Amino acid sequence: MEVITTIAAARATLDEVRARGETVGFVPTMGALHDGHGALVERAAAERDVVAVSVFVNPLQFGAGEDLERYPRPFERDVALAGRLGAGLVFAPGVDEMYPGPLVTTVSVGGPLGSVLEGAHRPGHLDGVATVVAKLFNVAGPSRMYFGEKDWQQLCVVRRLAADLSFPVEVIGVPTVREPDGLALSSRNVHLTPDQRAAAPRLSQALGAGRDSIAAGSRDPAHVEAIMAGRLEPFELDYAVVVDAATLTRVDPLRGELRLLVAARLGATRLIDNIGVVAP
Ligand code: PAJ
Repeated sequence: MEVITTIAAARATLDEVRARGETVGFVPTMGALHDGHGALVERAAAERDVVAVSVFVNPLQFGAGEDLERYPRPFERDVALAGRLGAGLVFAPGVDEMYPGPLVTTVSVGGPLGSVLEGAHRPGHLDGVATVVAKLFNVAGPSRMYFGEKDWQQLCVVRRLAADLSFPVEVIGVPTVREPDGLALSSRNVHLTPDQRAAAPRLSQALGAGRDSIAAGSRDPAHVEAIMAGRLEPFELDYAVVVDAATLTRVDPLRGELRLLVAARLGATRLIDNIGVVAP
C-alpha cells in the first residue's frame, strides 16, 4: 500500500499500472473512513486490478460557517483501513497541492440538478464537489469511479459531469451502508450526542414511512412529503421530498423511478439520507 501526496507521483504510479495493462478503480473520499467507504473500496477491488482511494477534505465544497475545521481527520487509521480493504494506493494531497492558488476555472453545476436540495441549502457545494471530482479524475485516470448512493444528488451530479463533459469513465453507484437501527453511516455521526444519536434513525424511518405510503397507493407528492416531515418534527428540517430519481424534479402524480430524500439538522450536525421507490 503506497501513500502518495503529489499529483505527479500519483500520475506516474497509475501510468505504470495502465502500461502493464491493468485497470484502475478510483474511490474519492474525504477520509474518516467507515464501512460505507469500505463498501466502495471492496466493490472497486472486486471489479478493477488496482484501487486508488483519495483522502482529501476539499475546502471548495464547504460553505462559510460549515464544518470544514471540525471535519474528522484520523489519517493513520484511514490508510490502514484502505489497505485492509484492498486499496493499492492512497492519494492524500495537501490543499496547496490541489489548489496552489485561487482557481480561475471551475465546474459549475446548473439546471434543476444543481439548484435544488443540497444546491439550494449549501450554495457552492455541488460546484466544489464537481470541480474536485474533475481534478481527481484527471489525476487518477480510472476506468471506473465509485460513489455512494448515500449522497444521491452528488451521484447524479457526477454522472452528469461525466456525461456532459465526455469523461472516459464509468460512474458506479454503491448502495448505502447502514447501522443496524437504520442510520446511514456518515463521517459526521461521530459529532452526535448520545441523545441525538438515539433520535437519528428517524431519518431512515421517515423515508420508510414515505415509501410505505406510496406502496399503499398514494400518488400525491405533497401527502408523502408531509408524512416524512411529520416523522422529522423533532429536528430542524432542511427538506423532505419525493422527486424523479435522475433529474430530482417534481413528479405529480407520482410515477416511475422516484427518490425520497431528507436533510435535517440535529444541533450542529446536519444529516442527509435517501431511498429509491418505483411507483407503477
Ligand atoms: P465522503 O463524504 O468522504 O464520501 C466518500 C464516498 O463515500 C461518497 O461517494 C459517499 O457517497 C460514500 N459514502 C459515504 N457514506 C456512505 C454510506 N453510508 N454508504 C455508502 N456510501 C457512502 O462524498 C464525499 O466524501 C466528497 O463529496 C467527495 C466525493 C470525496 C468529493 O470531495
